[in-house]
Amino acid sequence: MKIGIDKMGFATSQYVLEMADLALARHVDPAKFSKGLLLDSLSITPISEDIVTLAASAANDILTQADKQAIDMVIVATESGIDQSKAAAVYVHQLLGIQPFARAIEMKEACYSATAALDYAKLHVEKHPQAKVLVIASDIAKYGIGTAGESTQGAGSIAMLISADPAILVLNDQRLAQTRDIMDFWRPNYSLVPYVNGLFSTKQYLDMLQTTWTEYQKRYDTSLADYAAFCFHIPFPKLALKGFHKISDKTLSSAHSQRLKENFEHSIAYSQKIGNCYSGSLYLGLLSLLENSQQLKAGDAIAFFSYGSGAVAEIFTGYLVDGFQKQLKPQQRMTELAQRKRLSVAEYETLFFEEAQLDAKGNANFKEYQTGPFAFTAIEQHQRIYKKRTN
Ligand code: CAA
Repeated sequence: MKIGIDKMGFATSQYVLEMADLALARHVDPAKFSKGLLLDSLSITPISEDIVTLAASAANDILTQADKQAIDMVIVATESGIDQSKAAAVYVHQLLGIQPFARAIEMKEACYSATAALDYAKLHVEKHPQAKVLVIASDIAKYGIGTAGESTQGAGSIAMLISADPAILVLNDQRLAQTRDIMDFWRPNYSLVPYVNGLFSTKQYLDMLQTTWTEYQKRYDTSLADYAAFCFHIPFPKLALKGFHKISDKTLSSAHSQRLKENFEHSIAYSQKIGNCYSGSLYLGLLSLLENSQQLKAGDAIAFFSYGSGAVAEIFTGYLVDGFQKQLKPQQRMTELAQRKRLSVAEYETLFFEEAQLDAKGNANFKEYQTGPFAFTAIEQHQRIYKKRTN
């Protein structure tokens, strides 16, 4: 049975911080961000846009009533969870109006967990071919004002509908994961922002890429020559570029090398404008590739490198389905990104880091900010209140 990604939706914030503005404010050469990190701008969320509203917006973009009846599992992959107990997927299930006899869970392992979620979804559909699984990777990457990671923040959510006979990409069975107990990036329960050993994290990313890819090729008797594109986890596009160089293969024809290079550039285009969205960034790379490359065709194989700090990495592959282009919305995406409201650095510092001020009874109201179709509007007796916008 062929199982894979049937639909893909995306949502990000309505606000943006230009890297050139951040460079000026932090007295950094703008070329460090534009060339050193390959970033143009970062999506910035206000308090009323969180991983739940982003996840619901991303899925709302793609689901029909028939999908909502067929979905029997909702998985939200995130490392910026809003509750230690209740899964974000439960809120998302309700906001989207998915039929009640469904499982809703949250999965975590830094930026990696959406990859495990996809595999779980695939195994579920193998047993229950009529079922559809909604996998959403939703994160807000927040490091703090003036930190080394400040330039690699961002926010976004990718929704993927997993089904039999998918309309975009068939997932192959051949997968290989690697786990290493390391402290490159972590966020203890008491901290709003992560602790990061930045340089170490980039070295681990590259080493886990190389070692997993070497073993993957050996185990499955494959090589770069078999793929039209390689998608990477994109904490910032320059690291993905280093990854691309790491796996380069000198035995490839120059035409194939050029094709891989062009497709790599298409895969980082959205991240350059959005920044890091942690668990979703690999899949944002796939969406960016599919919506910007003119040369991909049905049957083309794509390899994926997923990396989550801590650390778990995985390489897996898939191939494109006939007519996959019909599921994509490149024009809408560019318009939405261009319409984000540009923030000054002072506005970004206030907006991105605002925290709910709870009264003695656990209530808080927020100023009205621009959000997508869903908003986190208040906290009442410690309960988060979400609303679907009517306009
Ligand atoms: N012109 C052009 N390039 C310049 C420049 C200039 N004027 N000044 C600096 N650069 C280049 C540097 O040479 C460097 O490029 P290379 O790596 O190719 O040498 C690049 O700009 C960045 O410079 P620094 O290394 O000095 O930057 P930094 O100290 O500000 O730290 C960082 C960069 C470590 C990535 C930091 O942003 C960070 O800690 N980010 C968060 C951690 C992270 O994203 N880690 C990735 C792996 S972990 C992961 O993948 C999980 C996840 O999503 C977080």
